[in-house]
Amino acid sequence: MIDFDIRPSSHPLPDAEREAALRSPGFGQVFTDHMITLRWSAERGWHDGRLEPYGPFTFDPATMVFHYAQEFFEGLKAYLQPSGSIATFRPEANAARFNRTAQRMAMPELPEETFIRALELLVAQDREWVPGGEGNSLYLRPFMIATQRGLGVNHPSSEYLFCIIASPAASYFGGTGKPKPVTVWLSEYYTRAAPGGTGAVKAGGNYAAAFLAQQQAVEQGCDQVVWLDAAEHRWVEEMGGMNLFFVFGPDGNGDGAAPQIMTPPLTGTLLPGITRDSLLRLAPELGVKAYEDRISTDQWQAQCASGELTEVFACGTAAVITPVGRVKGESAEWLIGHGEPGPVTMRLREELIGIQYGRQPDPFGWVHKIC
Ligand code: PLP
Ligand code: COI
Repeated sequence: MIDFDIRPSSHPLPDAEREAALRSPGFGQVFTDHMITLRWSAERGWHDGRLEPYGPFTFDPATMVFHYAQEFFEGLKAYLQPSGSIATFRPEANAARFNRTAQRMAMPELPEETFIRALELLVAQDREWVPGGEGNSLYLRPFMIATQRGLGVNHPSSEYLFCIIASPAASYFGGTGKPKPVTVWLSEYYTRAAPGGTGAVKAGGNYAAAFLAQQQAVEQGCDQVVWLDAAEHRWVEEMGGMNLFFVFGPDGNGDGAAPQIMTPPLTGTLLPGITRDSLLRLAPELGVKAYEDRISTDQWQAQCASGELTEVFACGTAAVITPVGRVKGESAEWLIGHGEPGPVTMRLREELIGIQYGRQPDPFGWVHKIC
């Protein structure tokens, strides 16, 4: 059993300053008083687990993570419940994905119960940092880095640091109430992931390689990049930190049929989002058929023009469910529906948020109470 030594801060942020920080938390700018650290070495396995004051690390400039990016992360949130308790959403799914990423990056796996225990310790210690208010939460960022000193590249690091930090967060795209639809840029030149690569895991390097395309998206007046497949640059995969869903009907065909939602299949180059998986399971309970299928950019445009494709939304932990209003590429630009959040998007969003914030029943057992 891997244990954690509890060393609380002797100088936590004064209440008034913390409360001021929680009033408009933004995303990923403010951090709580504590963090979790846990070390791994080839000789000792996991050791030196601590809950300790949040603060900087000191590393030798030749530490492997700085050179070869042997690093990955997870992301999940803790939500204030109506009873005043605090809960996370499907942390065991993050623990499983953490280990799938560790395996792909030739890094050590962490027992699922240790991953969850570490989250619980940090959230319980910093529970005053979980913001109330519509759309707010405490974003939890577990990550692991290669800490062996040396520039040899013939083998993975023999030492690692696992850490969890926590950051009060508003929803990623800002604003409360009705989400503002985003405009997306089709990345027809750069690719995010290729077969056999690391697209299906949360390696930090995936995000490093995406910044240039994201800059291009912003130059084009767009909010986010949509990644296409590496071979044909035609099949829609996902966004920078979110999966995509396409909504067909209900009135697109004019036949009054029930709406359906579709998301690209997990071909090995997309991240298997936990929000994506949750929606595939939740939607049918609401009478919305949910399935996986591929869609090309041409189909996307044609089906918007014909009215079959009525809504598109992005989903992920940080973004929750964010409507996509407009698409722009090298040679075409089009609107989705009227460019406004659609009813199916908003219904799924309400239901999902309702479960996460404890306002709706949780038939799937997804909510994990912490304290
Ligand atoms: N796709 C990418 C590339 C991501 O980084 C994320 C965020 O974690 C997602 C999709 C959505 O995953 P999840 O719903 O588990 O947050
Ligand atoms: C998340 O939703 O947790 C993400 O990883 C998205 C992003 C902030 C990288």
